[in-house]
Amino acid sequence: MMKDILQQLEERRDTARLGGGQKRIDSQHGRGKLTARERIELLLDEDSFEEFDMFKTHRCTDFGMEKQQPYGDGVVTGWGTINGRMVYVFSQDFTVFGGSLSETHAEKICKIMDMAVQNGAPVIGINDSGGARIQEGVASLAGYADVFQRNIMASGVVPQISVIMGPCAGGAVYSPAMTDFIFMVKDTSYMFVTGPDVVKTVTNEHVTAEELGGASTHTKKSSVADGAFDNDVEALAEVRRLVDFLPLNNREKPPVRPFFDEPGRIEDSLDTLIPENPNTPYDMKELITKVADEGDFYEIQEDYAKNIITGFIRLEGQTVGVVANQPMVLAGCLDIDSSRKAARFVRFCDCFEIPILTLVDVPGFLPGTSQEYGGVIKHGAKLLFAYGEATVPKVTVITRKAYGGAYDVMASKHLRGDFNYAWPTAEIAVMGAKGATEIIHRADLGDEEKIAAHTKDYEDRFANPFVAAERGFIDEVIQPRSTRRRVSRAFASLRNKKLTNPWKKHDNIPL
Ligand code: HXC
Repeated sequence: MMKDILQQLEERRDTARLGGGQKRIDSQHGRGKLTARERIELLLDEDSFEEFDMFKTHRCTDFGMEKQQPYGDGVVTGWGTINGRMVYVFSQDFTVFGGSLSETHAEKICKIMDMAVQNGAPVIGINDSGGARIQEGVASLAGYADVFQRNIMASGVVPQISVIMGPCAGGAVYSPAMTDFIFMVKDTSYMFVTGPDVVKTVTNEHVTAEELGGASTHTKKSSVADGAFDNDVEALAEVRRLVDFLPLNNREKPPVRPFFDEPGRIEDSLDTLIPENPNTPYDMKELITKVADEGDFYEIQEDYAKNIITGFIRLEGQTVGVVANQPMVLAGCLDIDSSRKAARFVRFCDCFEIPILTLVDVPGFLPGTSQEYGGVIKHGAKLLFAYGEATVPKVTVITRKAYGGAYDVMASKHLRGDFNYAWPTAEIAVMGAKGATEIIHRADLGDEEKIAAHTKDYEDRFANPFVAAERGFIDEVIQPRSTRRRVSRAFASLRNKKLTNPWKKHDNIPL
């Protein structure tokens, strides 16, 4: 008798694990997609998954729904570990009513989100859903809003990561949109507020789902997504890698990993990184990887606004967020897109106590009507604001240009930079020497000899880090080859930094 009951439990579990049945599982596989449970298995450490609400069913009785009550109601939820550290997870099951969100499906997600906040662990959401459960109407909309409210409350408390592995449309996109990171899978995932058919009817634009909201669109054009991967397996492996960089919540420090790289490592090649000609670009990523432990760099938004680079490295095993101008693209100018990208990254680091390393080679803000009409003033201010409000340790290295307002913005001393270093090749000035000369010696314009002499004067005076160093705006001029050692020691000295901003309900960052 007892044995029968135990046996029955196993049978029920087997039924639940089948979701919408073998045929639909096969069809999911046929599209190159894994099932909700297979994804969880790849995301979490082996055998670490503990499920909640495996037997939960929907309560809908309209449209004959009472006759179909699959266990789990289209979402698998629970917790487990990633390299031994706890995370909560939900994974939508497309084989059950297309992963659509019902009232009870939402309750399951809300339950693990509440636990995540209470217990201080990240939430990872795997999205693969046809949106609101059409048979449930407003009950489903209410369910979405309950999830949205929790995304908002959890923001800045625990890291939230969204992985889009199928359709994600309509208002459903707004839950991922409020999480910290969104990753997509190429060719099998898409996100849009209104689909291609509605677009065609309303604006007469003909566009495929892929063009409208595929991984390429969102990582290159809209910046909605932070990364795109070739398939489910790669995407989940990369999420595991990201989680290793992050603290579990805003009261804990990021994890310290063992490292096998000498913090004092000297990189002679950095002494010749800066080309002779100040207008020749070089790859700032080379500096990032040469400074990082084991050359390991986890880039965020790699394909968007490439004139600025954002991502995570470790120094002496500790996570550091990196923001760096990239002279290879638009000469490393700041513009609307790069300011928004970097500002969001800086704010993420600040919420989760991740120190920030800023590498500067910036000739200024990008000029032009499209920038001004697009509101570069407000968008540039986002980055300025984000750096200025951040209280985490901030270490800055100016490698070459730091001109104008962009000098101030890029984690300067004046925005509470803790260590502001410059290489001897740094040029800290209001603008480039030629432009400056043409303004202050306008009367001599046309006399090339005179202009050249004035330009040289200006260069001699300002195209160096020493004027700033004389004032203490630069703490120390350092040898490029010793950057890793100087920066690691700087962060080590800042581990107990305490800085708090005045009490306020919240700030009013220029959104
Ligand atoms: C209930 C749904 C569903 C939904 C899909 N299904 N979407 N059931 N509610 N929203 C079911 C289908 O009936 C089908 O059931 C199974 O899931 C698979 O769907 P298919 O259409 O066969 O799959 P596919 O061809 O891959 O197309 C996937 C799809 C399409 C693009 C997602 O199903 C679709 O367009 N669905 C409707 C999307 C939608 O309009 N949702 C509401 C958007 S409004 P069987 O039994 O045949 O397997 C919204 C608002 C959110 O979401 C509001 C937040 C505030």
